[in-house]
Amino acid sequence: MKTTQPFFSLCLLSMAGLLASCSDSSDPSGPETLSSFEVIQHEIFDDNCVTCHTAGTAFARQSDLVLTADVAYDQLVGAAPSNRHAADAGLVRVSSIGPGGLEQSYLWEKINAPASDHFYGEHSEYGEIMPLGRPPLTSGELEYIRRWIAAGAPRTGVVIDPAVLDDTQRYEPGPFAPLPIPVAGLQLHLDSFPVVANHEREVFSYMPLNNDVDLYVNRFDIALRPGSHHFIMYTYPDYTPADVVPNPFEIRDLRDENDNYQDANGDDLFDWRQMQYAKPIVISQSRRLDFSLPEGVAMRLPAGSGIDLNAHYANYSADAIDGEAYINLHLLQADEVQHVARIFALSNFDILLPGGQVTTLEKEFEFLEDRQIVQLVAHTHQRMIDFSAEIVGGDRNGETIYRSVDWEHPAPLRFDPPLSMKQGQGLRVRATYDNPEDNDLYFGFTRKEEMMILYGYYYTE
Ligand code: HEC
Repeated sequence: MKTTQPFFSLCLLSMAGLLASCSDSSDPSGPETLSSFEVIQHEIFDDNCVTCHTAGTAFARQSDLVLTADVAYDQLVGAAPSNRHAADAGLVRVSSIGPGGLEQSYLWEKINAPASDHFYGEHSEYGEIMPLGRPPLTSGELEYIRRWIAAGAPRTGVVIDPAVLDDTQRYEPGPFAPLPIPVAGLQLHLDSFPVVANHEREVFSYMPLNNDVDLYVNRFDIALRPGSHHFIMYTYPDYTPADVVPNPFEIRDLRDENDNYQDANGDDLFDWRQMQYAKPIVISQSRRLDFSLPEGVAMRLPAGSGIDLNAHYANYSADAIDGEAYINLHLLQADEVQHVARIFALSNFDILLPGGQVTTLEKEFEFLEDRQIVQLVAHTHQRMIDFSAEIVGGDRNGETIYRSVDWEHPAPLRFDPPLSMKQGQGLRVRATYDNPEDNDLYFGFTRKEEMMILYGYYYTE
């Protein structure tokens, strides 16, 4: 649906190298006559992976992995992972030892979405679950690849019944549960609050940490009750006027149940001065975020900090739901910290999306100092169909380094080693929106309005 158009055009662009994959749907012979690996190539990789894993793209360079039909097999079977943590753990991309090969196959770790708790919990240095920024592979696709690896990952021959692919269900995260209390760290809890039917409720709640020394957070683990549109944690810098810092533990609504931002007297329900000072430290756009900064890198929370929790729930069902959040902050000792990480938000407020049209917006941002970027993630609302960022300036001018086509759960992209940007270099952010409504859309905070933000974590040296 929404993803077909951009991927189709990319397919045309890279026609030279990809003829086989582009003409796949017109292949009259069907999957029966193909080897099991060819089925994986044509039915799974061509549709889900090659847009990024094609020679010459920044994604292929970052992962050092090309999955086009000409080289995919050799790039995978018996090959060492480029992720150094996976290589150190003795994994290969795909093992050909047959039974038992699954545990040694990094490809399997990277696509096995049903084990994402394990993946993000135990192997936070393994990057993201693939395909990046897209829905997970179907249960059938995963089972097909699992059996192929278990059968020794042969290049030729039919070793799996193609009917396995008929299971088109996709993994959904399990029920909401409190997070265990962290061993070295602290836990925050935003207690449950109701969200009435057909309403988007956005609340803030300020939690003082009562810390008398600076805290260094290296890992954020967040679990949200279903229905979350986004969740942001803000801090207030010490120059924030005392009367702007929110009262502890109060639930502050942005608007009321009828979507009014003002009360009967015309006064704002929310103290918007707070947004001028609030600095975002973590953004989660999926129900579960387990985000570790690289070793030795941490976000600093100065003594006396508090955290403003901001939950945005969207309930378009006919029944009330509850919102709720658990946040674990995993801490480093001060002497373990080599770099203090910060966040940037590259935001385009100049949004006009005419009704009934597809519109692409573009904005360029320049960095005024050298930056080591360790993560990028997009934030938009529901009309976004394609979001990307490319490098401006330097040797890698024009390279696309971030892409997402899923407005609701854009996968954060981590860089380890960091993406090094020099002073004067920048990012060109581009977003395409499809506005099928009659009315125009503008910048704004509700889902009926749009946003265009690229958030990044970085440190300077
Ligand atoms: C939006 C671009 C994108 C898409 C789509 C994508 N990948 Fe990736 N892939 C990346 C990036 C970037 C990395 C490096 C960062 C990481 O490992 O998370 C990567 C890394 C990998 C790695 C690890 C390579 C190594 O040796 O470290 C594997 C395996 C992989 N991808 C497989 C896949 C498969 C299979 C698919 C399709 C089902 C897929 N990817 C779809 C961008 C993408």
